[in-house]
Parts: sequence; C-alpha cells; structure tokens
Amino acid sequence: MRTVHSLKELRSILKAFRQQDKTIALVPTMGNLHEGHISLVRKATEAADIVVTSIFVNPMQFGASEDLDKYPRTLAEDQAQLEAAGNTLVFAPTVDEIYPEGLANQTKVVVPEVSEGHCGASRPGHFEGVATVVTMLFNMVQPDIAIFGEKDFQQLAVIRKMARDLMMPIEIIGAPTIREDDGLAKSSRNGYLSDQERAIAPVVYKTLTSVASQLEHGRSDFNTLEQEAKEALAGAGLRPDYFNIVNSLTLKPAAEADRELTLLVAAFLGTTRLIDNISVTR
Ligand code: PAJ
Repeated sequence: MRTVHSLKELRSILKAFRQQDKTIALVPTMGNLHEGHISLVRKATEAADIVVTSIFVNPMQFGASEDLDKYPRTLAEDQAQLEAAGNTLVFAPTVDEIYPEGLANQTKVVVPEVSEGHCGASRPGHFEGVATVVTMLFNMVQPDIAIFGEKDFQQLAVIRKMARDLMMPIEIIGAPTIREDDGLAKSSRNGYLSDQERAIAPVVYKTLTSVASQLEHGRSDFNTLEQEAKEALAGAGLRPDYFNIVNSLTLKPAAEADRELTLLVAAFLGTTRLIDNISVTR
C-alpha cells in the first residue's frame, strides 16, 4: 500500500490504474480510523479494483469554537489498519495542498434544503465545508464509486443530493453504522470521553431504540416522543442538541403518512458532541 501527500503524485498513480481499466473506489475520512471506517474500506474492496482512502482533517467544515486543533491525527496507526483491510492507496494531503489560496478565497459548494436542519442548523457552514471538500476529492480521485457511513445520516443525504444535482458520474454507496458492544456508535470523538462520560454514552443509542420501538408499535405523536427522548437524555446527564423524527428521504419533520422514518440525535456529553441515528419502517 502506498501513501501520497501531493495531488500530482495521486494523479499520476491513478492515471496508470485507469489506463489498465481498473475501477476506483474512494473512502473519504478525517483519519483516526476505527472499525466504522474500516468497514467502509472493506466494502470498497468488494466493489472496486482499487481503493483510495483519503485522510484529511478538513478545516472548512469546523466552526471557530470546534475541535479542529485537538482532532486526533494518527497517520501511522491509520496506515497499518488500512493495509490490513486491503486498501490500495492513501491520500493524505496537507491543508496547503487542498487550499493553496486559503479558506476565505475558496469556491464553495452549497447544497440546499437537506443540509439546513439538524446538524446544519447547529453547525453553520459545516455542510458547505463537507460538500466542498468532497467535491474536490471527487475531482482529484475521479472515483467510480464513493462510500460513506450512515452514522452521519445527514451528511450522506447531502452528498447524495450534491452528486445527483451536479451530475457527478459517481455511485454513492451508504454503509451501516458500526457500534461498540453496548450500542455506542464508533466515532473518533469517543476518545474525548472521560471514563464517567463513556459509561453514560450508550444512553444515546438506548434512547434511539426505545423511541424506534414505540414508533413500530404505532405511536405517531412525534413531538411528544421527541420531547420524551430529550428528557431521557438530559436525565442521564447529556445535553441534547436535537432529537428529530424525520422523513428518511427529505429529512423534514415526519408526517403521519410517512412509512420510512429516521430518528436523528445530537447530544453533548461534557464538551463532546455525539451524533447517532436509526431508521424505522412503519
Ligand atoms: P469521518 O468522521 O472521519 O468519517 C469518515 C467516514 O466514516 C464517513 O462516511 C462516516 O460516516 C464514516 N463513519 C464514521 N463512523 C462510522 C461508524 N461508526 N460506522 C460506519 N461508518 C462510520 O465524515 C467525515 O469524516 C468527513 O465529514 C468527510 C466525509 C471525510 C469530509 O471531510
């Protein structure tokens, strides 16, 4: 497995693969890889000849008061895991390589509607940063397919719409959320949790499954369910940011007639912001 840091090197290696008619899958990440990321890489190895994993902590998608500086950077460990998973090429560019003219002067990609509520409302500019860097990665790698986790449900919806609206010739594939044994969704940010916080964190998934089961048993008083879920989170010591029951396709508030629903949650545990979701068919 090779690791490259420059766009020039990336392009020359990929050109050779393309001349051999190899199909290319891209797995975009910010590194500090765990089993969730690795599951995407394994899926990619099944779907394409060549797997490119990008590792780039994208400053454009972090707010001013967020964790850009302390976000864990663990390239050597990441490389070892990727090698074992059958990854072909790691693209780990510097910030200067991606934004040579700086962030302020960068052309941006804006995806309306689906990016607006939930995390989009709590983290202004976040999805612009994601859509912009993913567009750039798509243009740099020119993959046939790209794989994203359902763990970031709204991000996946934003990228699907972006690829569709902008006629990007790339198949977007979603992959299921990988969890710890106690249900906590694997996340690079779980490493920020103290032992005490880590013991509380599974309440996020427990609350999701409890509301999902009530929906499956016929409850449709969505606002009350959302309120009860936020109270359950607060009662366990979390600070809920949102708990929204939405239409799985539009991410708009669920309506009585909707059959495919998704429960989206974000909650703070101390200073760590956890997000998770599950989907329900009624
Ligand atoms: P990052 O948080 O590193 O996640 C990279 C990919 O791994 C995303 O598609 C995410 O949904 C997926 N992922 C994370 N945790 C997962 C889990 N527990 N199970 C399954 N998949 C999981 O998401 C980003 O980076 C960035 O926003 C990025 C798309 C790379 C753009 O900068």
